Amino acid sequence: MTLNQTDFEYLAKFVLEHSAISLGSDKMYLIESRLAPLCRQYGVANVSEIVASIRQNPRSKLSSSIVDAVTTNETYFFRDAKPFDELAKETLPRIIAKKGARSTLNVWSAACSSGQEIYSVAMMLEDSFPELKNWDVKLYASDISNAMVERTKAGVFNQLEVGRGLPAALLIKHFNRKGESFHVKDYLKGRLQVFPLNLASTWPSLPSFDIVFLRNVLIYFDPVVKQEILQKTERVLAKDGVLFLGGSESTLGLKTKLVREIGKFCPWYRLPSS
Ligand SMILES: C[S@@+](CC[C@H](N)C(=O)[O-])C[C@H]1O[C@@H](n2cnc3c(N)ncnc32)[C@H](O)[C@@H]1O
Repeated sequence: MTLNQTDFEYLAKFVLEHSAISLGSDKMYLIESRLAPLCRQYGVANVSEIVASIRQNPRSKLSSSIVDAVTTNETYFFRDAKPFDELAKETLPRIIAKKGARSTLNVWSAACSSGQEIYSVAMMLEDSFPELKNWDVKLYASDISNAMVERTKAGVFNQLEVGRGLPAALLIKHFNRKGESFHVKDYLKGRLQVFPLNLASTWPSLPSFDIVFLRNVLIYFDPVVKQEILQKTERVLAKDGVLFLGGSESTLGLKTKLVREIGKFCPWYRLPSS
């Protein structure tokens, strides 16, 4: 049985309320195919039964499985290259020089998916910034999807995943092979704090971040939600902090204090100078 319009509308509203992800009616087929594996997992006959179940019990475990299933978790190591070039060659040298004796550095991957983004940063810091060895460097990663939070914490990747964007030398240096999978070494994992966070909901108290990666997630939200998330990001960005958005994302047309800079390798955002 395929999903009827009423059930689709209920699901779309449910997903919007739980994740702020806005699903147009053109996404009906996509939703059905994303939720199909849950039917097997929860032993129900079809997606309409899933809808019936969450109508009855919207706070069940199934609810978070639905959010997990509809999120798009596409990611890879050193995705889009340019923000990582900007970070290594421009942003970090500038921030390190400005900080002087204040030897702390906080980096946040704010929609981390399975963790490739924050592990890319971790490897870069380890390999290219020996001067940070005695600094208090903290790497934070969060995602709305509990499954992605767990994956990031685990730092375990398959052959296909390590084949996307990760230079062989870094694979050899920073991962242990166990059978068919590749495990990030403990010294990198140990620097990470990973937590669940729905960017569209109220944020907990967070540290002040020198670098924020908020990439390839704003695209799923409507302009009001995007604006609210950017305004919350302003409040956690350090005075000389740097925000990277995804290649197809910008603050254009949104009410935000953030100032766009044309970097050497890619655009980035900062707070206005006081
Ligand atoms: C396409 S991935 C981007 C991953 C990584 N930032 C990158 O650029 O490669 C988008 C991520 O955003 C997460 N996401 C979607 N809605 C979210 C929300 N409301 N709050 C936090 N994360 C969300 C998804 O679970 C998914 O892991």
